[in-house]
Amino acid sequence: MAYASAGTGRRAGSLLSIKDLSRVEIQELITLAAKKKRELMEGKVSADLAGKTLGLIFHKPSLRTKVSFEAGMAQLGGSSIYLTDKEIGLGRRESVGDVARVLSRYVDGIMIRTFSHAVAVDLAREASVPVINGLTDLLHPCQVLSDIFTASEKGKNLDSMTVLFIGDGNNVCNSWLNAATRFGFTLRVCVPEGHEPPAEVMGPVAQEVGSRVELHREPLRAAQGADVIYTDVWASMGQEEEAEARKKTFAAFRVDDGLVAVAKPDCLVMHCLPAHRGDEITDSVMDGARSVVFDQAENRLHMQKAILLRLMS
Ligand code: CP
Ligand code: NVA
Repeated sequence: MAYASAGTGRRAGSLLSIKDLSRVEIQELITLAAKKKRELMEGKVSADLAGKTLGLIFHKPSLRTKVSFEAGMAQLGGSSIYLTDKEIGLGRRESVGDVARVLSRYVDGIMIRTFSHAVAVDLAREASVPVINGLTDLLHPCQVLSDIFTASEKGKNLDSMTVLFIGDGNNVCNSWLNAATRFGFTLRVCVPEGHEPPAEVMGPVAQEVGSRVELHREPLRAAQGADVIYTDVWASMGQEEEAEARKKTFAAFRVDDGLVAVAKPDCLVMHCLPAHRGDEITDSVMDGARSVVFDQAENRLHMQKAILLRLMS
């Protein structure tokens, strides 16, 4: 199923792509995430999702997404059920549609992390409760929603900043591309030849935002004056067998001190994590003064709570 035509999970208010949200809805999520963060720091508790249950389907490993959704549900007074393919056998033991129908009778929302984006789209189409994309091979919307919250919290203007995404044109990069259709930032995508974001994402975004999305090949040129330098692993989950070969292909696309030096002096270095230190990012950058990677990880919790409240209240 083509992402561009299927992309949305509007039926039950699902969130499969940043494009499922308007600019105003994203701004409201950022405001709500900031509020939930403040309340947590002040020790205020709310039980807005008391009695509600979130089903979490994971076909790939996770630290941040799993824990932030589970802790988020607990902090909002609800509960969660962690499900792997061992229990469900999605599409094999039972059809995606039947799993969607059955889970909808038990839980108030479903988060899925899986390989094929089409599976998440099918699940959302057949479910009568909201479905949240916790990462597919194509997109990672919750990550980038949280990241733009972090960037704005750190003082960056979402309508005028310049973001460099360097490395692989992957799911995280694709969600940044989608975010560029909702805000005015310039997005420079710097990737080796053959690792560009897929045309099904890049094409429609480029049509919508024109020259605000740039494709680069030379990291030092691409990083000039950037407000944000963003990177991610060179081999995503499911591409493990390509990892060694990719180390050679991507070697010139590492985020190191030399690259950071040509960006703005107050640039933010971002990484969704997990990081392969020494590959896509050096220790000195990741642990350096410009790095906000652990703030990003923390903000996943606050943004997940905002998403859960909006979709499940
Ligand atoms: N960034 C992120 O989604 O991390 P996990 O894979 O650990 O969930
Ligand atoms: N692109 C990475 C993101 C991990 C959070 C992957 O899909 O493995």
